[in-house]
Amino acid sequence: MLTQSSPKRSGITLVKRAAAVGAVALAVASLHPLTANAASTRVVGGTPAAQNEFPFMVHLSMGCGGALYKKDVVLTAAHCMDGSGNNTSITVTAGANDLNSSAAIKVKSTKVKVAPGYNGTGKDWALIKLARPIDKPTLKIATTDRYNRGMFTIAGWGDTEEGAGTGTTKLRKATVPFVADRVCKRHYGNRLVSKEELCAGWQSGGIDTCQGDSGGPMFRKDDAGKWIQVGIVSWGDGCARAGVPGVYTEVSHFAKDIARAANAL
Ligand code: ARG
Repeated sequence: MLTQSSPKRSGITLVKRAAAVGAVALAVASLHPLTANAASTRVVGGTPAAQNEFPFMVHLSMGCGGALYKKDVVLTAAHCMDGSGNNTSITVTAGANDLNSSAAIKVKSTKVKVAPGYNGTGKDWALIKLARPIDKPTLKIATTDRYNRGMFTIAGWGDTEEGAGTGTTKLRKATVPFVADRVCKRHYGNRLVSKEELCAGWQSGGIDTCQGDSGGPMFRKDDAGKWIQVGIVSWGDGCARAGVPGVYTEVSHFAKDIARAANAL
């Protein structure tokens, strides 16, 4: 299942982890080595999630994350998909932090809908229709930009260090602050599609999503204290580098399109 490598971007951005050891190795080779501080806990810099802490989190068999948008629809990243249409090739794992747990629920996909107009720049969202509903809580998505601020939770089974290429079998989580477009552009310049993307990360680095986390949700609490999804893990230059935020699909911008597409799936 190769590859779909980085459409239009440099570095290891937009590379599916499971997708391409070769491509990843190549891309990683062109990156600066990690600076110090790259060893302990580790998403990068995270900690293990508690059982049932994020019951809406799902793992996708090509090596991406996702969130239950409806009981039978997963919201993920377009760059994790091979396009729209009937697709029974994806195995969605839910209901367990440990992918190898006997409690893990595994359901196949039936269809995929990639964001209309997706071409590798922005619009990085897609929906997967499941063969049967998964009886777990869904994650509601932000429909206005009012939650695009503050602290966000990220979670995934992706690499715990830039370039690792292995991912983890147990779900990990971390907390990252919102980064304003203006600040995010200091590093990314016009590669950032401001209206469609949202940045998050610590100026000092050390904590971030990474390869294999793509498609997973970035979320926070809403005013009622309920989890709400504000982002989809999309891309970044390396992982957890100082001054280099992670880039996430700005869910609120696409909320109507996502709802429409889900109804039509
Ligand atoms: N594109 C990556 C994936 O496919 C996600 C990269 C996120 N990178 C970051 N520095 N936040 O898994």
